[in-house]
Amino acid sequence: MPNTVVVGAQWGDEGKGKIIDLLADAADVIIRFQGGNNAGHTVVLDTGEEFVLHLVPSGILHRGKLCVIGNGVVVDPEALIAEIDALTHRKVPVDEQLLVSDQAHLIFPYHKMLDKLKEARVGPGKIGTTGRGIGPCYTDKVARTGIRFADLLDDAVFRQKLRYNVEEKNEAFTRLYRAPQVRFDGIYQQYVRYRDRIARYACNGTVVLNRALADGKSLLFEGAQGTWLDIDHGTYPYVTSSSATAGGACTGSGIGPRHIDRVIGVVKAYTTRVGEGPFPTEFPPALMERIRTKGKEFGATTGRPRRCGWFDAVLVRQAILINGIDEIAVTKLDVLDDSPTVKICVGYRLDGRVATEPPGTIDAWTRCEPVYEEHPGWLTDTAASTGPEDLPPPAQAYLRRVAELLRTRISIVSVGSKRDQAFRMC
Ligand code: GDP
Ligand code: IMO
Ligand code: MG
Repeated sequence: MPNTVVVGAQWGDEGKGKIIDLLADAADVIIRFQGGNNAGHTVVLDTGEEFVLHLVPSGILHRGKLCVIGNGVVVDPEALIAEIDALTHRKVPVDEQLLVSDQAHLIFPYHKMLDKLKEARVGPGKIGTTGRGIGPCYTDKVARTGIRFADLLDDAVFRQKLRYNVEEKNEAFTRLYRAPQVRFDGIYQQYVRYRDRIARYACNGTVVLNRALADGKSLLFEGAQGTWLDIDHGTYPYVTSSSATAGGACTGSGIGPRHIDRVIGVVKAYTTRVGEGPFPTEFPPALMERIRTKGKEFGATTGRPRRCGWFDAVLVRQAILINGIDEIAVTKLDVLDDSPTVKICVGYRLDGRVATEPPGTIDAWTRCEPVYEEHPGWLTDTAASTGPEDLPPPAQAYLRRVAELLRTRISIVSVGSKRDQAFRMC
């Protein structure tokens, strides 16, 4: 299989876990390169057994595949250990397959506290984060005061860096947030216990991955979040704090861009978003309720109801440019089965003009009115389809029109959450 990057082309939860699981069979190494346990990637086996992965690459469910958590990921050791334990309990041999870059930054309790305090402080202007400490951890990384996995492995370095951070954060807790302080000793002891558990997974990710490339192995990069949550390209500031786009696969793993052969963008047949921020094609309440129920649109990490809306070709077209997407995987087509008509957003009406590109400010985003094309629905159950020819003609026409608007090939269509409910388009 060509070395492949899989990214979300909307606001996350596009079904990346399911697509990674499909492709993992033909890959040798599966790599997470950004984000942290803000991600929730669902894989449903043929048996109906469901796994939700947060930090561990979704390829872990394929025996013998090496899974690497890259340097671009922020790792909460508590969450990682809980995930490893839960997987091991379900007979997944994690210890044989998992490695973690020693250059990955670690999340500490003060990051989680700061995440929540910051959100509470801004009140109505909050981002609606997952509260996992992701933003504050990446803030420390960029401020060059963060603590990496390799630092944890060196006790003297760890003590010194943790002491500095605890002092700095306590200043903020006291002066800015009027919140209780954290204690060095408690965190130190706790992280020494975590070190004893996770030291065995530490690796030089760059060396591991480049050796795999030299051996002719194929790499599969598992994006988390989505293009419109990317720190640079998303609907800033309503974004996450990492590079969730294809460029992040190189910086977040330690391989060069020439090794990437293919980029697959995953989209839902409609659109969803969790948390705050602009969403031009968001459904009115009744339709929202119907699609949310049918699509089980509740967050895989926080359980929050996802906001739902029509497919937005303006968003995805720009995602194709940002990521260099070669192929599209469309998921959850089945969720539109009961819709008498289906709409596709083809432009935004803004200040009396129709734009086919997204605007540059949040103020303009919130004023965008979607311009829709309306297509007949198919009112037929598609969940048992095993190939494009099984789809009702209006569903085929819908996909053709989406591909035409995106000027990109649809290579995979998914019609249910299970492994076998997906097929390749010829
Ligand atoms: P990810 O974060 O991109 O991996 O996506 P999530 O796992 O957070 O959310 C996708 C949800 O949709 C999960 O519950 C999947 O089991 C489910 N899912 C994936 N593909 C399909 C599909 O084609 N049809 C339906 N009905 N559900 C799907
Ligand atoms: P997967 O990988 C959907 C959203 C949060 C919030 C914003 C910032 O499962 O697609 P953060 O905690 O990252 O600082 O929150 O980003 N968000 C996601 N939305 N899917 C995700 O991951 C998300 N990870 C973060 O809801 O709006
Ligand atoms: Mg998810």
